[in-house]
Parts: sequence; structure tokens; C-alpha cells
Amino acid sequence: MSTLKIDLISVQPGMFSGFLTESIVARAVKKGLCEVNVVDLRDFGVGRWRKTDERPYGGGPGMLMRCEPWFAAVESRLAAATEGVRPRVVMTSPAGRPFTQADARSLAAAGHVVFMCGHYEGFDARIETLATDIFSVGDFVMTGGEIAAAAMADAAVRLVPGVLGGGAAATAEESFGRGGMLEAPQYTQPPDFRGMKVPEVLLSGDHAKIEAWRAAESRRLTAQRRPDLA
Ligand SMILES: C[S@@+](CC[C@H](N)C(=O)[O-])C[C@H]1O[C@@H](n2cnc3c(N)ncnc32)[C@H](O)[C@@H]1O
Repeated sequence: MSTLKIDLISVQPGMFSGFLTESIVARAVKKGLCEVNVVDLRDFGVGRWRKTDERPYGGGPGMLMRCEPWFAAVESRLAAATEGVRPRVVMTSPAGRPFTQADARSLAAAGHVVFMCGHYEGFDARIETLATDIFSVGDFVMTGGEIAAAAMADAAVRLVPGVLGGGAAATAEESFGRGGMLEAPQYTQPPDFRGMKVPEVLLSGDHAKIEAWRAAESRRLTAQRRPDLA
């Protein structure tokens, strides 16, 4: 049975409470398919006040995260890794590479992922040397890395075998799955809602025709919304 260990390092660990009690990750933990540790970076802070930030050299607005707490926190998680497992260390950053479904697949198979959630104006550049990957969840800037880490962890955990019902087919048939395109539109009851009708072909019971319709719709939607994937 493959399992995934996730460490979430943050100065605002409380941000993960809903994520850890209400999500697919909570179900995966209950099933024993996933282990999640939330680590408070302040436990590794500097001095009496457990400082994690400092003013940037050269001037500029805001505060930067200091090296010492991050090196100590990440190294403590690496020391707790299972023998033979080489953890991935993911730094969250708007200046990172855009996170994709392929990355979610690769994290799901990694066995152990440590997420680094930044704050303030971000990290001292030397902290990057800890990371195996620097990922962004989109071309926008949030105040902290917790939501980005939760998004990536969720995307990875649902791909761990056994977490979702329906097995591998459930995730292969969706957007960015086989062929890398967007999923075709889907419909459920009622067949006619306020004059908007479910396409006839989906009610036909002809599976070959349904497959052909879905493939064509997938190509149409991808060309329309995400020409970069088409
Ligand atoms: C205010 S941001 C720092 C932005 C940084 N000064 C810059 O311009 O690239 C604070 C933290 O939020 C997280 N963050 C913000 N936007 C993100 C995004 N799009 N993807 C991933 N992490 C993000 C990162 O952990 C970052 O260190």
C-alpha cells in the first residue's frame, strides 16, 4: 500500500485546521493512506522572542523570513524521514514554476513531501537551497503560502491509490488526465432544466457515440479556454 507523508511548515499553523478536518486529506488520514504533520516555524525561531523575520538588506518594504528557523525546521523533518525515502521539499512562491497536474502526480508518488509556507515579503534567498522544487499556484500574490500548500497537498493526496473511489480511471478521465486536455461538459438530472437540455447523445446509451462526443467536446473546450494545452 503506498502512503504519503506531508509536513506543512508555517508561522500560521492554525490556517490548516479546516483543511485537516473537512477535506479529502482528512479522509485519507483516517484510511491510513496519508500522514500530515503541521509544524509551527516559531518553535524554531531565533532568540527569546522566537523571531522568524527581519528587515531586508539593501532596504525595501516589509520583512523577510530568516534563514535559521527555516533550516532548523526543514532539517528536523528530513531527519524524521523514513529510511530509503528521499523527501521532496516544496517552497511555495509566486516566483516559482507553475504547479501542474503532472507535478501533483509526481508528489503523490514521492512518499514524503515537506511544504514551506512563506509569509511577509517572502524568504531570504539562501533558504531556496533547501528546496527540491519551487512552485507557484498562479500568477497572483497571496499573503502566505498556506493556501498554496493546501492546494498542492490536496491535488497530490487525491492521486494516492485508494483515496478516491473509482480507482485510477477516476483521475485519468478528468481535466489534464489522458491527452492533457480539459474534461468535456458533464450533466446529471433533470434532463431539461429551464429549457437547457442535456445533449441527446448522452441519453442514447450508445457508448461509442458518447465517447466520440466527449472527445470532440474536450478538444473544443480546450481550444476555446486553454489554447496553450490544445
Ligand atoms: C506576499 S508573498 C511574497 C511575494 C514575494 N515578495 C514576490 O514578490 O514574489 C508571501 C508568501 O506567500 C506565498 N505565496 C504568495 N503567492 C503565492 C503563489 N501564487 N503561489 C505560491 N505561493 C505563494 C509564498 O510562500 C510567499 O513567500
